[in-house]
Amino acid sequence: MKNNYFALKFENNYLHFLNQTKLPFEEEYISTDSYERIAEAIEKLEIRGAPLIGIAAGFAIALAFKNFNSKSEEYFNQVYDRITSTRPTAVNLFYAADLMRDKFEKLLESDNVYLRLLQTAIEIHNSENHNSSRISRLGLNIFHKKSNVLTHCNTGSLAAASFGTALGIIKNAFDHDLINKVYIDETRPLLQGLRLTAFELDKLDIPFTILTDSMSSSLMQKNNIDLVIVGADRIALNGDTANKIGTLSLAIICNYFNVPFYVAAPSSTIDKKIISGQEIKIEHRSGEEIFSVRDRLIGLKNWDYFSPAFDITPAHLISGIITEKNIYRFPYNFINE
Ligand code: MRU
Repeated sequence: MKNNYFALKFENNYLHFLNQTKLPFEEEYISTDSYERIAEAIEKLEIRGAPLIGIAAGFAIALAFKNFNSKSEEYFNQVYDRITSTRPTAVNLFYAADLMRDKFEKLLESDNVYLRLLQTAIEIHNSENHNSSRISRLGLNIFHKKSNVLTHCNTGSLAAASFGTALGIIKNAFDHDLINKVYIDETRPLLQGLRLTAFELDKLDIPFTILTDSMSSSLMQKNNIDLVIVGADRIALNGDTANKIGTLSLAIICNYFNVPFYVAAPSSTIDKKIISGQEIKIEHRSGEEIFSVRDRLIGLKNWDYFSPAFDITPAHLISGIITEKNIYRFPYNFINE
């Protein structure tokens, strides 16, 4: 059985997760019951992908109370602040942490804090499983023939529950004989496409071809791509979408060549507090990630750099947003969703 990996699971009161920074060469699993270790894993991208970091955040907050049955608000805030300080852009992290806070605030005097919080963390995980499955089913509707699909970054089971969001659709479409081939952007600088999406498609026996991010326009000029599907880290009420750096240029290229450009994400990725993408905080990461590949330097450390981890695609460039509820079309308005 090739498909024998998991991104994370909660078992015997420990979180077990795959260290994604070592893929595709090494499948190293880490087991921990320390919320601090989970926070570090999110910061270092050992655990990554918007829905997955939300799920991990839920378990981390519960585990903070495993050996500390306290209803101290001060302690909860300390844990909440640590977890939500790890990465700023994916709203799923804050969504999950806020659900944990709601549960904490409703605890009864007699409750075992850890067990009650764990219940909510498990519910978040289950609900994301359900969302991913629905997205992969609904997403079949965007295929009109057997297609060549291009995707960016990693949106599979390493980034979300079940088989993932955009990659979950691609897997389901492949199972329904609707995929010829998947083209994968390598996704500079951390190579989530080359290292993680290729790893997942290889495990799933789905044919793929890798290209560097700058090659997609050439591919589309040759009429080789029928549609593009990507994930999202935060979607504003008007549909503006933050996703992995490079997504915006892909959307612009699709617009130029008239290739449908879809976003797939659970509704936990919609930030109902913001009207447009202008309000999304973009994470900027260290220049070391640009100047080195697997710890080997490819540039000089003292050179200046620009390293946003995400960009914002304006809603009008998005052909459709697929959530577990529906396929939405421009103009988007998620206020009542
Ligand atoms: O920095 P990462 O690897 O966490 O970025 C991940 C992405 O941008 C994904 O496309 C997004 O989180 C959607 S995952 C289903």
